[in-house]
Amino acid sequence: MKKNTNFSRRFFLKTTGAFTLLASIPAVLKATYIQVKEFIVPSKRIVPLTVSVNKKAYQLDSDTRTTLLDLLRENLDLTGTKKGCDHGQCGACTVHVDGERVLSCLTLSAMLVGKEVTTIEGIADGDHLHPMQEAFISCDGFQCGYCTPGQIMSAIACVKEGHTHSVEDIKEYMSGNLCRCGAYNGIVESIQKVAAS
Ligand code: FES
Ligand code: FES
Repeated sequence: MKKNTNFSRRFFLKTTGAFTLLASIPAVLKATYIQVKEFIVPSKRIVPLTVSVNKKAYQLDSDTRTTLLDLLRENLDLTGTKKGCDHGQCGACTVHVDGERVLSCLTLSAMLVGKEVTTIEGIADGDHLHPMQEAFISCDGFQCGYCTPGQIMSAIACVKEGHTHSVEDIKEYMSGNLCRCGAYNGIVESIQKVAAS
């Protein structure tokens, strides 16, 4: 009896084709999933980084996703800069980059190559406090002190930017720095004192 080879071959091709297609779907989905995930949450990538903080150059290997705030606190042990919200809402993490105030929790450390970072640890002149630090002490510009490094860094920038013509002006340009202790009157007074000196 003659064997139906056509049927067998067609059947074989159809069946294996279907299995191949089924097998390929998860791979395609997996690849797409990885691409989307990589786009939304980039995977860990360590790169060499040279960054200058308070006029001192640091060379280290850093994850490209590391924020300036975490770099300062976790890698460089510069814990004067505080982590409040970690979401750009409170101003506790304010530092200067090339003289401009920035929120270090929203700044990627990989973007700082060739720039100068100044933190609260870098504003005193040896044993002499910065005039804004002196003013915060003499005007009672703090209570618990947690927000104070960020307040002082913002206050220095506020004076430099010239936003000190009125109390309203100062309040407006210091509004990104929250103080849970409510030391706002002393903070405004400190800024007025430095601006007038
Ligand atoms: S910790 Fe950066 S704004 Fe709150
Ligand atoms: S001094 Fe306590 S949060 Fe501002």
